[in-house]
Amino acid sequence: MNALPIGIFDSGVGGLTVLRELRRLLPDEHLVYLGDTARVPYGNKSRATVSRYAEEDVQFLLSRGVKMIVIACNTASAIAAPQLREQFPGLPILGMIGPGSRAARAATRNGRIGVIATAATIGSGAYGTRIRESFAENGAAPAEILAQACPLFVPLVEEGETSSEITRLVAEKYLAPLRGAGIDTLVLGCTHYPLLKEVIAAIMGEGVALVDSGEAAAVETAALLAERGLLRGPQGGPGGAQFYVTDAAARFHAIAESFLGHGVDHLSLAELGAAP
Ligand code: DGL
Repeated sequence: MNALPIGIFDSGVGGLTVLRELRRLLPDEHLVYLGDTARVPYGNKSRATVSRYAEEDVQFLLSRGVKMIVIACNTASAIAAPQLREQFPGLPILGMIGPGSRAARAATRNGRIGVIATAATIGSGAYGTRIRESFAENGAAPAEILAQACPLFVPLVEEGETSSEITRLVAEKYLAPLRGAGIDTLVLGCTHYPLLKEVIAAIMGEGVALVDSGEAAAVETAALLAERGLLRGPQGGPGGAQFYVTDAAARFHAIAESFLGHGVDHLSLAELGAAP
């Protein structure tokens, strides 16, 4: 069981930011990554559609024999995580919302927290709910949670526009309501936003801590595997990674470089819903 891979899925290439963190923290683990590039983006789709896609993503990863699932996609986490846990009892499933929310609660000093994410994630209200729950566990409440959808960030990042003038202007527009609100913590609640950290940090200023939900999720993945006695350990050599996409493998390959810092080997096409 311990030697089995961790299954990670995302709507496309963005989840590689989460895979990068997992790789850094858990170099002994084998990873299987599924990017649903045929149906990306999830961030502007309905709850019913995202739920259906997420279920098929998990089914595929199970067919690859994974020991746990990391939902790297914030949108799928926000909308489908509770349902997936019911549908696949006994399978450890970690999404982005809990880890990101707990990290935000730990980071804030004044209880004023901003969340930026896709329209679907913001519309779900999942971050607000989990941040409040996280405070409540300590008998407290946040002073204010401000949420802002940033729908243009994903296409800008995928086009490589991570530090250009156009991105700075778009970011200024999206972040304007958060800037004047006295927040000291901002959750980057989308796979793509860590690539915009510099632009966002420059606009928000030094006094605002940026919380990377992927980074927080990698820490919690390590803790969960340790707690359940599921860590692979260094015997048997370093872990490897296998990548699957549902379409446009060449584009995935090209963009993967900017997300991972290197290209990907072992990339195959996956047919969801079909027997492997
Ligand atoms: N992976 C998605 C997320 O983290 C962003 C891309 C999409 O909209 O599918 O919310």
